[in-house]
Amino acid sequence: MFDHKIYEENLKSKVFGRSFKYFKKIKSTNDEAKNNLNAVHGHLIFTNNQTDGKGRRNNKWFSLPNKSLTFSIMLNKNEIINKDILPLLTSVAIVKAIKKKININCKIKWPNDIMLNDKKIGGVLIESKSNYYIVGIGLNINHRENEFNGDISKIASSIYIHTKTKLKLEKLLANIVNEFELTIKKDKKNILEFWLDKCNHLNKSIKFHRKGKLVSGKFMGINKNGEALIKMNKKIINISSGAIYT
Ligand code: BTN
Repeated sequence: MFDHKIYEENLKSKVFGRSFKYFKKIKSTNDEAKNNLNAVHGHLIFTNNQTDGKGRRNNKWFSLPNKSLTFSIMLNKNEIINKDILPLLTSVAIVKAIKKKININCKIKWPNDIMLNDKKIGGVLIESKSNYYIVGIGLNINHRENEFNGDISKIASSIYIHTKTKLKLEKLLANIVNEFELTIKKDKKNILEFWLDKCNHLNKSIKFHRKGKLVSGKFMGINKNGEALIKMNKKIINISSGAIYT
């Protein structure tokens, strides 16, 4: 069940999330977005039960019915500024909304993983199709420790595990949408400074894949395009895609 009243009461955005489609159950909200290529800018697709969620780099995204936030927002490419830092700015909006709504300080792992106590609680998958960017957001909200499969609990967590308080998905959803609409209009410098302040691994040793090998380096920050700056053998290199491991 989705409580539209709670969602609407909390929604303060002008455009984002005003056009809204709810699915009780669906394979992937990002894939569903691809069937809506005449949607209005800011159209939101939400489900309480995503059964075949997709993560970055062809991974699967695991979610639990009624306990995960799984949704996609469709952005018309002609309507947005800050396109080049969309992944980073989305994570900034999520972290800001969580802080405002429930006073929890999340961190970010490059480029857009949402971290809490060094474990991942959320991620962002941005896809491009036709004239849209499809911004898919997945967050672990009300999961308990024993609800993660196998070894996932070593690297993943949820807001509930930290707070021991159940959250209304509709409330947090509306607050993320509000914050996303505000953040996307902010100037780049402001967004990138916020991102850096929340970075989980600034000046720390990290690993990443380079030319097919897992190599080590030190995470030095990000450039104006949101690329990772990594020190390796006394040189600074830019990484624009992939993942880092802490
Ligand atoms: C990641 O790998 O960190 C990104 C995960 C993104 C998952 C979200 S859930 C809603 C949307 N629909 C999908 O199939 N994936 C994204």
